[in-house]
Amino acid sequence: MADRPRVSEPDHDRRSGDVGPAADERKSAAVRHAIRSELAVDAPKDDAHAAKRASETSIVELQHVSLAFDVPIIEDISLITREGETMAIVGESGTGKSTILKLVLRLLVPDRGRVLIEGEDITPLSFEEALAVRQKMGMVFQGAALFDSMSVFENVAYPLREHTDMNDDEIEQRVREKLQFVDLDPDRVIDQFPAELSGGMRKRVGIARGMANNPRIMLYDEPTSGLDPLTTGTITRLIMKLQRELGVTSLVVSHDIRAVFRMASKVALLHDRRITFFGTPEEMAGSEDQYIQDFLGGFTT
Ligand SMILES: Nc1ncnc2c1ncn2[C@@H]1O[C@H](COP(=O)(O)OP(=O)(O)OP(=O)(O)O)[C@@H](O)[C@H]1O
Ligand SMILES: [Mg+2]
Repeated sequence: MADRPRVSEPDHDRRSGDVGPAADERKSAAVRHAIRSELAVDAPKDDAHAAKRASETSIVELQHVSLAFDVPIIEDISLITREGETMAIVGESGTGKSTILKLVLRLLVPDRGRVLIEGEDITPLSFEEALAVRQKMGMVFQGAALFDSMSVFENVAYPLREHTDMNDDEIEQRVREKLQFVDLDPDRVIDQFPAELSGGMRKRVGIARGMANNPRIMLYDEPTSGLDPLTTGTITRLIMKLQRELGVTSLVVSHDIRAVFRMASKVALLHDRRITFFGTPEEMAGSEDQYIQDFLGGFTT
């Protein structure tokens, strides 16, 4: 896909006619400059409240998690996200990013290691107990994944009907509130069907549905894929607004490094079944590691 970072692209410099170690140095300086510019805009690290919250409770934690299907997918992965943080999970296609979100939702159970939500080990829970833990989380699926045969109203109301005792009036009020939060006019969209909406509007409805239950944790799988740069910016700001105004803790899987650097307080890079980097965007930008440099290098080309 055109918006994916190119990784380990051997002819990258040759194509531009710019070769050798000096070119490499110029390239990495340019990458860092571009990333620092991103960080200067709305950087979550500048939010004193977020910093304070981030020093507190562990909200989502993976401890030495391994999982294999036919072959090992992830091995000995440890991650920690604290209250109010936004953690981005990045890596090449097929490295297990969506798998990690499924482990957090306990749709999958690790072969080894533990997954903790708000300090509770969810690995040994029964199916019913796991459902209760899942209620703490809102999920925005890859590709928005709305129910095509349901109106916008029914899509956003779905988790409320499934998992709460709210009456019809309460549900309508909540649906309207969430649509407003994602900058959609409830009166205009409530009776529309997903096919009538633009890609960006569908993503917003997906976010409104994900946050309908007022979850403390939001999980996003590729929330900006397939969107133009302006709409990508809008969705990125929306995710940041959720973090800032509601204090939710977020895990965001994304191929869009530019968006990741804007919204994430921590970045985890998956490579070769493991986390090869876990730290702040600035630490990532400053890394001398060749794989990280290549991974980031793709984002400026
Ligand atoms: N239910 C499953 N059964 C068997 N293999 C699976 C299953 N789910 C995922 N995999 C495999 O696990 C690996 C990781 O998949 P995953 O969907 O987590 O990757 P990803 O990093 O999200 O990729 P993408 O960026 O393309 O979405 C892939 O090789 C995939 O084929
Ligand atoms: Mg995926």
